[in-house]
Amino acid sequence: MCDVLHVDASVRALSNDNPDHDSISKKLARRFISELKKHTHIDEYMYRDIGVNPPPFITQDWIGAVFTPKASRTARQHQILAQSDMYIAELAKADVVVISSPMYNYGMPAQLKAWFDQIIRINETFDFDLARGDKPLAPLMSGKTLVIITSSGEFGFEKGGINEAHSHLVPHLRTLSKYLGVDQIFEVASEYQEFADERHTKSMNMAEQELSVIASVLAEKKSVKLK
Ligand SMILES: Cc1cc2nc3c(=O)[nH]c(=O)nc-3n(C[C@H](O)[C@H](O)[C@H](O)COP(=O)(O)O)c2cc1C
Repeated sequence: MCDVLHVDASVRALSNDNPDHDSISKKLARRFISELKKHTHIDEYMYRDIGVNPPPFITQDWIGAVFTPKASRTARQHQILAQSDMYIAELAKADVVVISSPMYNYGMPAQLKAWFDQIIRINETFDFDLARGDKPLAPLMSGKTLVIITSSGEFGFEKGGINEAHSHLVPHLRTLSKYLGVDQIFEVASEYQEFADERHTKSMNMAEQELSVIASVLAEKKSVKLK
């Protein structure tokens, strides 16, 4: 049994009049959730399509509100932080976080970066203490599992791959995941979308198989660890 937060970041819909335009990352993420349901009971399923409903960008007033002690915040400052508070509450509840993302310009979509900017917040998801020396930030949450599902038009972004030097999507997600309280990461990539050849088909099939395995592995471990 577990609580799942599922965040989709593609601007493309899961299904369109022309299926060639369907989001691959969303399709794979949906597949993963249905596989997970086969293996374990999901107590609470929280879903955000931030590709279609993007989080607001943070502003100077947002930063001002964040650095104002909670008890001293004005009604306006509470309002400015309301969406961030909601995202953080969802994250806090989740045992498993599923993030599906396309690669845009070799990194994450702006919408997903905006979600992280709303969530990685001082005294909520991390604290800051100079007594820790040169690494003053520490996460406040822990014990979460992250499943990263990506889709790209090109290929070879893995270690040793021909595009490794341009791989800024998964490495960035891995860096940020620490501040989500993640200590276990699974990663599945579909590649070659722009080539639309048999390598793409093979990559999709592989991704689907990997997600089935991850769902069963996760369910096994979690049934012991979770509620
Ligand atoms: C704005 C934009 C930028 C993209 N940039 C890249 C890129 O830098 N590298 C790459 O391999 N594919 C790139 N692609 C291709 C997408 O990663 C690919 O179409 C992917 O399947 C999109 O995810 P989705 O199918 O879930 O929407 C880009 C696509 C778009 C729309």
